[in-house]
Amino acid sequence: MEPISEFFSAQHRACDRVFEQMESAVSRDDWQQAETLFNELSEDTLQHFSSEEQGLFPLFEEKTGMRAGPTQVMRSEHVELRDLLQRMGDAVGVKDRDQTLGLAETFFLFLQQHNVKEEQMLYPMADQALQGALQDLVGKVPGFPPPGR
Ligand SMILES: [Fe+2]
Ligand SMILES: [Fe+2]
Repeated sequence: MEPISEFFSAQHRACDRVFEQMESAVSRDDWQQAETLFNELSEDTLQHFSSEEQGLFPLFEEKTGMRAGPTQVMRSEHVELRDLLQRMGDAVGVKDRDQTLGLAETFFLFLQQHNVKEEQMLYPMADQALQGALQDLVGKVPGFPPPGR
């Protein structure tokens, strides 16, 4: 797999695993565990969004000249996903099982649709357009591996 697709898709998978663990903790009313896992999910998801918004998207826009295209759609979906994440956190905070599971389902469905668009369209386009510019992502995207290693 090409480096951008590989790195960002792996973060999607990692967040999905934490989400599933959190959902199952809520299902068995283990709220202490649910809260810990929610905090991890929230931190990882927000870091991923910020790596895209601060690192990948601006470089994509610069190299392709596409400033009003896919990156704008993805940014606006992040706004909605952040809102859902926040509301899910509030529901976890008051230990409201039905509310948490309902919001979790909405969040996860929306997130999967978002991730599919990135993995099938945006990341492959970025892998093409940024072939010579991967070094520019190092430092702007925490953990992104230096090219050639
Ligand atoms: Fe995204
Ligand atoms: Fe993403």
